[in-house]
Amino acid sequence: MRTIAVLNQKGGVGKTTTVVNIAAALAAAGLKVAVLDLDPQSHLTIHLGVEPESIESGSYKVLTQSALFEEEILLVRPNLWLLPANINLVGAESELVSVVGRETILREAIERGESKFDYIFIDCAPSLGLLTLNALAAAEEALIALQPHFLALQGLGKLLQTVELVNKRINPSLKVKWILLCIFDSRASLPNEVRADIEKFLKDARGTDCAWAEAQILPVNIRRNIKLAEAPSYGKTIFEYEQNCHGAEDYRKVAEFIATENKKNLLATEVAEKKEQCPIKIVEAAGTNSQEASTGRVTADLYTEGKEADTQSDRI
Ligand SMILES: Nc1ncnc2c1ncn2[C@@H]1O[C@H](COP(=O)(O)OP(=O)(O)O)[C@@H](O)[C@H]1O
Ligand SMILES: [Mg+2]
Repeated sequence: MRTIAVLNQKGGVGKTTTVVNIAAALAAAGLKVAVLDLDPQSHLTIHLGVEPESIESGSYKVLTQSALFEEEILLVRPNLWLLPANINLVGAESELVSVVGRETILREAIERGESKFDYIFIDCAPSLGLLTLNALAAAEEALIALQPHFLALQGLGKLLQTVELVNKRINPSLKVKWILLCIFDSRASLPNEVRADIEKFLKDARGTDCAWAEAQILPVNIRRNIKLAEAPSYGKTIFEYEQNCHGAEDYRKVAEFIATENKKNLLATEVAEKKEQCPIKIVEAAGTNSQEASTGRVTADLYTEGKEADTQSDRI
């Protein structure tokens, strides 16, 4: 089973569209896929044609440990299951604030299940709070959805620091594997410049021990396509709505690429040989307590607002 968290703390960059359509393409190919809605806005749930008001609570119940993962997942298409969300999920962060081990509730819930899935995709909320931490603690792969416009890279440093902290403290298997450029305008020059910037940034991390040392930009960009914007309002995936449009073609290719990823990763050998220090420094705050939610201070030199050393105080 592969568990992939699709994240970006910015909203409107294409996370939910990506989860729905990659999952639908894999399910159509006969793989068993579950998609988990961890965003109180419930866009994933709505996009798959389920009314958030019609469910009792879905992911909220799983996170507050009042229901089992298997009890809350719904079969929404052949081979495609959904852990739905509704607005109740807003309350989960505050309700869990004093629960020890609150970052790993989702992981434990999935592990207790029968693991009948080939893939689990987690659609994250546009924040780096407790819901996203639960997604990162449960996943082995992080896929960052980016819209390559002006300011696209702003905030990427903080996002990567969060992944790095989770990797070092809670989930050593977590790696940033993929960056997917969504809502891509191929006629403009800026998206290609953004792509080149990210490539350079990733290249600097190769051979280091950081969580994105093996990350790659997916070779297929998701072009801006009106059909992708229309499909959610019909509660349909792009393949149900208009299977021959650019959006369907792009997501089919990305799904194929992720599914057939070459396991013998040449970079892994390179990393094993070199293992230099991650270019973003993690600085532990003095006197932290690793058992109960320690606070980490992180400094980064790249892609943080104002290019100043940034501090990150999300409690992990
Ligand atoms: N490639 C695309 N072309 C055109 N519109 C898109 C594309 N991808 C997503 N959208 C639309 O952009 C909006 C934001 O996408 P969404 O996937 O909901 O982002 P996020 O989950 O990051 O908030 C939605 O209205 C969606 O339908
Ligand atoms: Mg979304």
